[in-house]
Amino acid sequence: MKIGIDKIGFYAPHLYVDMNKLAVQRNVEPEKFTIGIGQEKMSLAPITQDPVTLAANAALEILDEEDREAIDFVIFGTESGIDSSKSAGVYVHDLLGLNPYARAIEVKQACYGATAGIQMAKGHIALNPQSKVLVLGSDIARYGLNTPGEATQGAGAVAMVISADPNILVLEDQSVYFTTDIMDFWRPIYSDKAFVDGKLSNEQYISFFSKVWEQYKSKTGLGLNDFEAICYHLPYTKMGLKALRTVLDEGTEEVRERLTNNYTISTSYNRNVGNIYTASLYLSLLSLLEQKDDLATGSRIGLFSYGSGAVGEFFTGILQPNYKDHLHVDNHSSLFSLRREVTVSEYEEIFEETLPTDGSTFKLDVDNDPASICLAGMADDKRLYINKLK
Ligand code: HMG
Repeated sequence: MKIGIDKIGFYAPHLYVDMNKLAVQRNVEPEKFTIGIGQEKMSLAPITQDPVTLAANAALEILDEEDREAIDFVIFGTESGIDSSKSAGVYVHDLLGLNPYARAIEVKQACYGATAGIQMAKGHIALNPQSKVLVLGSDIARYGLNTPGEATQGAGAVAMVISADPNILVLEDQSVYFTTDIMDFWRPIYSDKAFVDGKLSNEQYISFFSKVWEQYKSKTGLGLNDFEAICYHLPYTKMGLKALRTVLDEGTEEVRERLTNNYTISTSYNRNVGNIYTASLYLSLLSLLEQKDDLATGSRIGLFSYGSGAVGEFFTGILQPNYKDHLHVDNHSSLFSLRREVTVSEYEEIFEETLPTDGSTFKLDVDNDPASICLAGMADDKRLYINKLK
């Protein structure tokens, strides 16, 4: 049975910071951020957006009534979830009006969560070919003001419908995954910002890529020349390039050029959004699919997923006929063009805003947020969401 990505949606909040201006404020040469790190703009979540609303807004653009009935499993990958007990999937299930005869869960393993969700979804569809699974990756990456990680923050979500006979990408069965306990990046429950050993995290990312890639080649007999493109988890766009460069010598000159060009295209959305942890790899896939004109049906696309701590996986998909007809390129180009730039001081203020933790009632101004689904406030320690379309 063919199983894979049938639909893919994306949402990022309407605010962003220009990395050149952030660099100036931090006394750093702008080229460090734009070339050395490879980021142009950083998405910023206002207080009216959280991982739940970002994911629900991403799903809103792709779901029709048939999906709402057929989806019987919501898998929400996140590492910035809003509750240690209740899953973010349950909130999204309600906000989207999905069939109540469904499962809704949250999955966590740093940036790897949505990939775990996709693999779980694949198993579910294999057992229940008529059903569809909604897989969400949604995060707000926070390292803190004036930290080395600051230039690699971001906010956004990707939503995917996984089904049999998918319209966009059939996921192939062979994949390679690898786990080792390391402390390259982590976030203790008491902290709303991540802790990171930046150098170690970069080294481990490359090392995990090398391990799963070597194992993948020996397991499948395939090599670099069999790929049209490889998409990477992108904490920042230079990171995937460093990994790609470690294997380019294995391809012919034509393949090297193709993979390098396609890599650049696959980073175009990420370069303007920043790290969105669980969704970053899928935002890169979306950039490739939406920004590249001429990918042939049957092309094989490699996907490298990395979640600090750490779990890595290399898996692949085959592009389906007329996949372009199932994308939402116009929505995404207006999403980007309608965003508003904030100054560095506005960003700092928004970054420090917090919700009450004493059970008090707190109302938020959702009129300032153009998103359809927003956080409207809090009361009795409960988050209050609003879907303006209902
Ligand atoms: P840093 O230490 O400030 O930066 O932070 P640096 O000194 O290493 O410089 C970065 C690059 O800019 C270097 O290039 C410099 O040469 C270059 P490289 O040698 O790496 O190719 N540079 C310049 N280039 C042009 N013009 C200039 C200039 N100046 C310098 N004038 C770091 C960088 C990424 C470590 C930091 O931002 C950080 O800690 N970020 C967070 C951690 C991270 O993103 N790690 C990535 C791998 S781990 C991962 O992907 C998992 C993750 O997504 C979490 C999860 O799984 O949940 C993070």
